Amino acid sequence: MPSDAVIGGTGLESYPGLVVTGERRATTVFGEPSAPLVLGEIGGRSVAFLSRHGPDHGIAPHRINYRANIRALRDAGVQRIFAVAAVGGIAPELEPGAVVVPDQLIDYTVSRVNTFFDEGRVVHVDMTHPYTPSLRDRLLRAAEATGVAVHDGGVYGVTEGPRFETPAEIDRMERDGCAVVGMTAMPEAVLARELGMEYAACAVVSNAAAGRGPAEITMEDLYANLERGMREVRRILAAALSTGSN
Ligand code: HPA
Repeated sequence: MPSDAVIGGTGLESYPGLVVTGERRATTVFGEPSAPLVLGEIGGRSVAFLSRHGPDHGIAPHRINYRANIRALRDAGVQRIFAVAAVGGIAPELEPGAVVVPDQLIDYTVSRVNTFFDEGRVVHVDMTHPYTPSLRDRLLRAAEATGVAVHDGGVYGVTEGPRFETPAEIDRMERDGCAVVGMTAMPEAVLARELGMEYAACAVVSNAAAGRGPAEITMEDLYANLERGMREVRRILAAALSTGSN
């Protein structure tokens, strides 16, 4: 079984270029993950792919069973997760199409089960580095090796969704130091940490955050902007996976 996994989000519901070798229909004590785990190879390396919103994007961010997703990957032997996400750009330099490797998180979500340690045992997991530094480094080195421009670091603010934010909310997030806004990095990152898995992310800016760009955020614009960024992310991932040890 692969020790590396990719969780694909909006714009990466399936993985072009993944050489599929199998499928694992997992079920966990927390229920079913968003989709079967697709087993395959990227750049000759074995990897598990999980579509976060389901194969046809039917699961909204607040309805994702994050615990089942992370647990299913862990049960399959995965030790490292490369998360891919579409985000809105808050920092002015992060224009649509930009790729960011975030290094910090702020959790603004309100309704999610965000721990495996819900009862029985009290565990306070350390989140000083919410993204595993060594795995981030692997992404950054891979980006450099492939000549893909990425933004090293930035605070990913996680909102509840599924609606987009108001401009006032984005103003507040900017004051908090957020560079990008998305809806899925929490509780994904903390759940991976609780199970002792490494976790790092490539975030593709799909739109300017509310009040920072065109009058409205439309899904058409969002998907159009994602295409190039996701292609670049796949180049980074192929290189990052090939530097692994499995
Ligand atoms: N806000 C929240 N999540 C997002 C956005 C956004 O503007 N774009 C893509 N995911």
